[in-house]
This record gives sequence, structure tokens and C-alpha cells, in this order.
Amino acid sequence: MSTVTTNIESLAHEERVFPPPASFSQKAHLKSMAELERLRREAYEHPEEFWAGMAQELYWFRKWDKVLQWEPPHAQWFVGGKINISYNCLDRHLSTWRGNKAALIWEGEPGDMRTLTYQQLHREVCRFANVLKRAGVQTGDRVALYMPLIPELAISMLACARIGATHSVIFGGFSSTALIDRINDASCKLVVTADGGWRRGSEVKLKAAVDEALKQTPSVETCIVVRRTAVPIHMEAGRDHWWHELMETVDANCPAEELDSEHPLFILYTSGTTGKPKGILHTTAGYLVQTHLTTKWVFDLKDEDVYWCTADIGWVTGHSYVVYGPLSNGATVLMYEGAPNHPEPDRFWSIVERHRVNILYTAPTAIRAFIKWGEQWPLKHDLSSLRLLGTVGEPINPEAWMWYREIIGKGVCPIVDTWWQTETGAIMITPLPGATATKPGSATKPFPGIEADVMTRDGKSVGANEGGYLVIKRPWPSMLRTIWGDDDRYREQYWSQIDGIYFAGDGARVDEDGYFWIMGRIDDVINVSGHRLGTAEVESALVSHAAVAEAAVVARPDELKGSAIIAFVTLEGTHTPSDQLKEILRAHVTKEIGALARPEEIRFSDMLPKTRSGKIMRRLLREIATSGSVAGDVTTLEDFSVLEKLRAEEEC
Ligand code: WT7
Repeated sequence: MSTVTTNIESLAHEERVFPPPASFSQKAHLKSMAELERLRREAYEHPEEFWAGMAQELYWFRKWDKVLQWEPPHAQWFVGGKINISYNCLDRHLSTWRGNKAALIWEGEPGDMRTLTYQQLHREVCRFANVLKRAGVQTGDRVALYMPLIPELAISMLACARIGATHSVIFGGFSSTALIDRINDASCKLVVTADGGWRRGSEVKLKAAVDEALKQTPSVETCIVVRRTAVPIHMEAGRDHWWHELMETVDANCPAEELDSEHPLFILYTSGTTGKPKGILHTTAGYLVQTHLTTKWVFDLKDEDVYWCTADIGWVTGHSYVVYGPLSNGATVLMYEGAPNHPEPDRFWSIVERHRVNILYTAPTAIRAFIKWGEQWPLKHDLSSLRLLGTVGEPINPEAWMWYREIIGKGVCPIVDTWWQTETGAIMITPLPGATATKPGSATKPFPGIEADVMTRDGKSVGANEGGYLVIKRPWPSMLRTIWGDDDRYREQYWSQIDGIYFAGDGARVDEDGYFWIMGRIDDVINVSGHRLGTAEVESALVSHAAVAEAAVVARPDELKGSAIIAFVTLEGTHTPSDQLKEILRAHVTKEIGALARPEEIRFSDMLPKTRSGKIMRRLLREIATSGSVAGDVTTLEDFSVLEKLRAEEEC
């Protein structure tokens, strides 16, 4: 809990308050605090009526019989309803003026551009759904998507959803080993990929990673490949097919399946406290209702907006706020394939200027990078189209928040700092920009219908400004339904830490005004550049190398990334420490998980500090990694001399 208290102190002095500008509130979906508080009260008193009211905005083949069936810890929402999320994101708009509205405006890293109207996107989705059907994909089958940020990724997701196949998007930065684990865990039948993608001017070789993975994934029958970079690749006869060739063989007529409300929509893997990532399962109707509503209210989305969420679709933010939430609202979504500093550090601002972006949703780690690169880059561009800014992924420090407000938002754009998780599916704690007065660094208050609290380990609410565990006290529509293939872990991790209450894994405090201040993870999960990684995952990657006997991984606060990964490694007897071995081990982790898990620093040590029961004392390692010395209590340590050695190692 040491990080929790440190953060409480550092943020406790933040006293600035920014009410929404009157001109923004007047035109907003939610116009005042009074209106928001009324909604919160209504939703608190009658949550099922509140969500049912919101669900009516969507298209149902058959209306539900029962809003919520709650058999803790399993929820079913809109029981008995029939719905299709692809239909709600596409077909529903075709009978309106939005048919010819831009759904996706896409910009590739090299500068190529494509725009797809709702009509055109619908056509592509229907055709690809027919391709999937022709390849033998049926309702309930799992399909893995390992792709760059190109329109075909959104098309693939919507095509799966259209026929009731469950997609599992695997971030293109993950390695082939990570791909194998995820494909096998869900027994995916088909993989959609691309020859490669562009990142900072270099090609990311996706198909090569897939070729490597498919040697060890018996469930996969077919691989469909989008031509993106046109760099030659291997195509396995009988197994691999080009997207553009298959698309020629099908027609564009593919009615959306009438699916149960609880039909599995997607699995998305995220890190937990063990070495094995968790396949978070989301279902259809509840997920759609909450992503639809939060997109509309939190981003105050209007038909004339150009909306840009910069997240990769490989993460939940991309699922909920690049694809499903915005498209179900009929929005114009901007998608950018590449890095924020390619070819220059002003790429984002150039995009905002050229496409007249109105709403920008990005990550604190990106903002910190922009600050470092210097304000001359955004100042070169006309950012006057922006009217709302958002952040997600980790706590934002007040300095970065103020920079975002002044340099990007010119002091006039409200900022929505949105707290949520892969597991929650949609935004949970957030300002509503026309109503909420914001405080830099606070995600403010729970969304209507969400009952959040801060508790002690034994389930007691803490007082104002006391640190504790962030919990959610009643089910919400877009909540995860289980961990794929491991319902015991679902129960254990989320609903048994405090009995019957959802345990988020974050530390938080609530101030005297009821504002939530999220202080980050309290478990062995670390947040590197807004991405979640389990220390255990990185440790097992290290230990899988022949030279490593034991490894302990901790996070060290990092100005840019939020946290940097520091690994303490004990070598097998026959190996000796060297800089070269450090490089080999860092490359090994990259191969096992992906570049985002590469340790910033590796330290060799003869032994790791342990308690008498053999548990590694990470708290000490964290202290050593951060400050170089240990102040805390060490009476449970087995071998005190270990500390001296770790310190000595640091000095050389
Ligand atoms: C963890 C969830 C939700 C999409 C991106 C991350 C941290 C997320 C905030 C925020 C403080 C935040 C939490 C959370 N987090 N948003 N606004 N303020 N912390 O999804 O990979 O599932 O990670 O990200 O620690 O538990 P994820």
C-alpha cells in the first residue's frame, strides 16, 4: 500500500476547480449539475428502470423480458431480448440521413487515407461476414484478430458480431508466443491478420508472427491476410487466403443474426496477478447499452463532430470507444494507424488540424510525451476545432492535466478524465462535461447507475480523504461476465476479495466533495504507458530463459511511462552476469510477450530477499529500484545480507 499513501499526499493539495464553460453547457446533452444529480438519484433508486430507459434508444429484434437477473457474481442483462450490435452500429443508420455520413476517416502512418461512409462500411462488413461464413465460421465460434489499426480490423469485428462469432483481438505489439497462448486459450478457429503494419516508419511483421504461432495452434483452420504493406510474405497453401481475393467471391447481402442479449461478443485478454492473462468475456446487449450511452454523454457526442480516440483497437478502449460506442451513435470516427511522433512530433496536431477534430480522447502517457517534446509542436497548428478533451488509462498528474487544458484545449475545452477497466467494459467514473466541475487529477464521480465506493479490506466504507480499495457495489450492464474458461478465477479475483462486491484492484480516496481520486493498482499489476502488465507474466518470461533461476519484477515510477519495469534476476550457477546477458534477457522478454514488456533495467543478484515462508519481498525491491535504499521494516527477511548485495550491484 505504500504507493497509495504517497499518492494521497501528493494529490491532497490540489484545490483548483474548473466549472464547465456556460457556452458548452448550453448545448450539451447534460446541461447542469442539477440535471446530473437528478439522474444519479433516479438511477440510484431505480437502476433497472434507468438502464431500461437507455436501452430503448437501440434497435431490438425482440424486447427483453427482464432487465437484470443477478445471481452473484453472475449477471444477465436484458434477459430474453434479441439484438445485434453490428446491426445497431450500421443498419440502424442506413434508413436515416446518416447513410452517406462518414463513419470512418482513416489515416495510415505513411499518409495514405481512406473514408468509409456508413453505407460503405455496412457493405464491407456484410461481405466479410459472408467470407467468414464461407470459411465455416458459425455462431459461437471464436475468431482471433491480429491486425494493424486499419479499417479492416473494425470491419472484422463488426462482421464477427454480425454472425454471432466471438472475436478475440490480440494487440499487434504482442509476440508470437503471446499469440499462441491466447489463440489456444479460446480455441480460435480462424485468424485474421495482415502482411504487416506501419509503426514509426518501420514495418511490424504480423504475418511472420502468425506463421510462427500457427505451428502450435491446432484449432486454427484458416488464416485471412489483409495486404497492407505489400512486403512479400509466406502464404501457406490451403490455410492462408488473401482478404481481397475472398471478398471478390461473396455478395453483400448478409442479414444480421438475431442474437440473445447475453450472446458472447468478445474476449479480450488482460493481465492479472498470475503469469496467465485473463480472457475477459463481454456479452452483447448490456455492453452495447453502456458503451452507447457513455459515448454519447461523456463525450457529449453530436452528429456534426469528428471524434478521435487515439487508442489501438487491441485494447478495450479501442473496442468500446473507437468501434462500438461511437458507431452505435452514428458518429464520424477518426482512426490513425501509427505513432504520434512520425514523421515529426506534431503528427497528432497535424491530424487535428487537417481533419478538424472536435473531440480528442487520449492517454496521460501520450500527454507526458507531448510535454517532453515541447509545446512548439502543437503551437504550430490550428487546434481551434477541438471542443472536448479526454484521458484514460492511468491517473493523470495535475501538471499534465493543466498542460493539456492550456496548450491543447486553450483553456476552453472541458477535460473528461475517465476511469474504467477492461473488466468494466465501459466508463464508470467520469465527469459529464456540460455538468461536472472538474479538478485536475480527479476522475470526479461515478456515472449515473454506477455505485462506486472506497472500502477497507474487510468491506467497510472509509471516511472522506482516507485511502482504500476501489469497489463497485452493484452490477452494471457492461460488466465482464466471467473469465473465459475459468469461472473460479472470476469469482475469486473480483467478487471474493470483499465478499459479494466487485473489487477493481485500484487504490482510491474520495474527497469531501465526493470526488474520486484513483491512485493506481494495489496488486502486482503494473501500468506501463497506460498498458496493463502482470509482474508475474514478465517473471515467467524471464524464468523461461535457460540462464535464469529466479526473477522478481517491480515497477519504478517513470516520468514518461508512468511505470518502468525493473527486473531482479538470479542466474543459474553456470552463467555469469554481463551486459550482454542483460540485453539477451531483455530481447527474450520481448520475444515472449512483446516490446511493451521489455524491462527498462535488469539487475543481477545472488539471491532475492524473501520472507521466512519464501515469499519474495517486492516492497523492498521496489524501494531499492526507486530510491536505492530500504527504509521499511525488514524483520521478516530471511537473509539480510541480500540487501547489501543488491545495493552493491546497483553501484557497479
Ligand atoms: C486500469 C485498467 C480503461 C481503458 C484503459 C485501461 C487504470 C484507467 C484510469 C483513470 C486512473 C486509471 C486503473 C485501472 N486506469 N483509467 N482515468 N485514472 N487510473 O484498461 O488495461 O484494463 O487497465 O487502468 O489502474 O484498473 P486496463
